[in-house]
Amino acid sequence: MKVRTFRLSDYPGVVTVWSEAGLEFRPGDSEEQIRVKIQRDSELFLVAEDGRRIVGSVMGAWDGRRGWIYHLGVLPICQRKGVATRLVRELESRMKKKGVLKVNALIFGWNDASIEFFSKSGYLVANMKEAQKSLVAGKR
Ligand SMILES: CC(C)(COP(=O)(O)OP(=O)(O)OC[C@H]1O[C@@H](n2cnc3c(N)ncnc32)[C@H](O)[C@@H]1OP(=O)(O)O)[C@@H](O)C(=O)NCCC(=O)NCCS
Repeated sequence: MKVRTFRLSDYPGVVTVWSEAGLEFRPGDSEEQIRVKIQRDSELFLVAEDGRRIVGSVMGAWDGRRGWIYHLGVLPICQRKGVATRLVRELESRMKKKGVLKVNALIFGWNDASIEFFSKSGYLVANMKEAQKSLVAGKR
C-alpha cells in the first residue's frame, strides 16, 4: 500500500471511498471545487493506493493558523489495517514541514470509530460545538 498526493484522475476513486465509507457528499466535494482546493495546498490531499485501487483518502488543509483534517475515509473492506493511520501520519509530517503547529479534525459526536481512531492517534477529543453557515443559498 502506497500513500501519495491526490491527482485529479483519482477523483472517481476518492468519491467511491467517500461513498462506501459513509461520508456525506457536500457542495465543496464536486470535482470543480476539488480543482480549486488543490490549487492552494495540493500536497495535503492524500490517497492510499493498493495496486491500482484507491482504498483510502484524507483531505488536509492549512488556513495559516491551524491544520485541518477533512474527509478521512477508508473502504470498509480495508479498515482496521492501519490505512488511516498511514494517511494521517503522512499528512501530519507534510503539515509539520509547512510550519503547521496544531492540527484539528471535526468529528460527529456519534462517530465512535472516528473518536477511537483520533484518540489512538494522539488527538485530544474535545467536547466543543461547531457553528456552520453555508454561503450557497438552499444548501446546508
Ligand atoms: C475512522 C476510519 C477512517 C479509520 O480507518 P482505519 O484504516 O480502519 O483505521 P486504522 O486501521 O488506522 O485504525 C487505527 C486505530 O484506530 C482505532 N479504530 C479504528 N477504527 C475503529 C473502529 N471502527 N472502532 C474502534 N476503534 C477503531 C483502533 O484503535 C485502531 O487500532 P487497532 O486496529 O490496532 O485496534 C474508518 O473507520 C472510516 O473510514 N470510517 C468511516 C468514515 C469516517 O467516519 N471518517 C472520519 C471522519 S471524521
